[in-house]
Amino acid sequence: MRIREARLDDWSAIWPFMRDIAAAGETFSWDRDISEERARERWFPELPGRTVVAVDDDGAVLGTAVSGPNHEGPAGHVATASFMVDAARAGRGVGRALGRHVLDQARADGFRAMQFNAVVETNTRAVALWRSLGMEIVATLPQAFHHPAHGYVGLHVMYQLL
Ligand SMILES: CC(C)(COP(=O)(O)OP(=O)(O)OC[C@H]1O[C@@H](n2cnc3c(N)ncnc32)[C@H](O)[C@@H]1OP(=O)(O)O)[C@@H](O)C(=O)NCCC(=O)NCCS
Repeated sequence: MRIREARLDDWSAIWPFMRDIAAAGETFSWDRDISEERARERWFPELPGRTVVAVDDDGAVLGTAVSGPNHEGPAGHVATASFMVDAARAGRGVGRALGRHVLDQARADGFRAMQFNAVVETNTRAVALWRSLGMEIVATLPQAFHHPAHGYVGLHVMYQLL
């Protein structure tokens, strides 16, 4: 597996699993029926936003991440990021590799901290993964996310100095 900058022509490989993740409504604070156009705008932000893909030896896209400044001006040194791995490729280390890459890149870009704004508390796989990469839960916003199976659950704000 390797991680490289995403190209616009990766979109056709990203959108099918992104659409499924959004439609499930379990992990992302997006409309479950988000349009393809809106999703693409969110995943390919203006510079200095960065979009990467994890690809296998055949070049197939396994997962993707987007990162960039979480704030502007005096708080512009805090980065944020989002991650999606194709469910068919989950549990093979893609999320961990993307997480490590994004944290290293943010450090190299001069950001002083990383903030994940909205990690659903029932997304225990993601919470454990981000904690193992040094992210800490600094707050949990009670009932901030309406989960299709669990009802109103908390959203973690996770943070680490880089
Ligand atoms: C969360 C997500 C990015 C993780 O990606 P992934 O490629 O499956 O993760 P990895 O294979 O790197 O596994 C990471 C950890 O998850 C755990 N894990 C893996 N498979 C698991 C499973 N089937 N059940 C529970 N935990 C599992 C392992 O503890 C693993 O840690 P390890 O490296 O010490 O073994 C991915 O599941 C995803 O895209 N989910 C939907 C969108 C989402 O939740 N994005 C993040 C929002 S904060």
